[in-house]
Amino acid sequence: MIEQAATDFEAVHGARPTGVWAAPGRVNLIGEHTDYNDGFVLPMALPHRVEVAARRRDDGRVRLYSAQDDGTIGDLALDGLAPGVVTGWAAYPAGVFWALAEAGHAVGGADLSFAGTVPTGAGLSSSAALECATAVALNDLYGLGLSAPQLALLAQRAENAFVGVPCGVMDQMASACCTDGAALFLDTRTLEQRHVPLDLEAAGFRLLVIDTRVKHDLGDGAYAALRAGCERAAGLLGLDALRDLPPAGLPAALERLPDDLARLVRHVVTENRRVTETIEHLDGGRIAALGPILTAGHASLRDDFRVSCDETDLAVEAAVAAGALGARMTGGGFGGSVIALVGADGADRVAEAVRSAFRSAGHADPVAFTAVPSPGARRVA
Ligand code: GLA
Repeated sequence: MIEQAATDFEAVHGARPTGVWAAPGRVNLIGEHTDYNDGFVLPMALPHRVEVAARRRDDGRVRLYSAQDDGTIGDLALDGLAPGVVTGWAAYPAGVFWALAEAGHAVGGADLSFAGTVPTGAGLSSSAALECATAVALNDLYGLGLSAPQLALLAQRAENAFVGVPCGVMDQMASACCTDGAALFLDTRTLEQRHVPLDLEAAGFRLLVIDTRVKHDLGDGAYAALRAGCERAAGLLGLDALRDLPPAGLPAALERLPDDLARLVRHVVTENRRVTETIEHLDGGRIAALGPILTAGHASLRDDFRVSCDETDLAVEAAVAAGALGARMTGGGFGGSVIALVGADGADRVAEAVRSAFRSAGHADPVAFTAVPSPGARRVA
């Protein structure tokens, strides 16, 4: 892929790029829809990544090309960038230029050529990878000296204010900050991070990722409505964020809320607890104990948060029936991907069981792969 981004760059922009930068997609192990509630998350970066070959320009223009697009070269004037002006995939990198300028960083133009392997619309954070690859490239090209968490926050700002998706900070933090061989335990309120070593293979396990190929679209309003519901519930309970409701206070809080908000709150509070339990088990080397937590997390997303769909439910059921220790949908929901924790020799069997269940139900074939925790955004050439 590094080759492709650089070769395309030469063909499109007529010169060698200064370098190539890469940022990964992610799966979230546990902690779903907790990040915009000031809660905990535990994502890990995938080996799948977006790569960008890049070079500075000094005429205030941004010229973008993507191997995944139709061959068009985008040509944007930096001083004309404003929310709503750029549409499609180019809005993500353009939003990063805009967010850097808004934060007062002196960034001129650039020539960029993107290539990548992160499936889009699969709940694996291809957007965050696109943003973070751009951010890390500009950070180097313009010597901005920004840290990985600072780049993640700018990438999130780009997505929230320029693209218009009210996402939390998990995906950008995962793409910018993850390290090889570790999951990222992040407190989304304090932004305190801990890299939790996760060598599943050494412990005799595998993490199977199953892309159901049902496309989700976080921009369709459902995500924003969930976020607004959580914020309304926190307000009714007199809390800054649902993070501030301890599990012991849950029963009393639920009685004070209408049903539709009560189930959102139950998910967030129990999900935060599942993250801290997972961390305790990982610290204690008890990987198998993660299985039931994953499956309980899925039930909560399905029954309380209601962001699951037939395909993700079926993938979880089929994986567990075929011997997975646990499984859950990962990411925002409404389709996307499922993760399954399996014994080392069970990955093929579980993947085949899910494929066969999909065939019987008349769904398109899902795509399965095993994931290892991979490095975050960085220069690769
Ligand atoms: C999407 C958002 C994240 C997070 C997840 C749900 O991936 O981008 O910020 O809210 O959904 O956990």
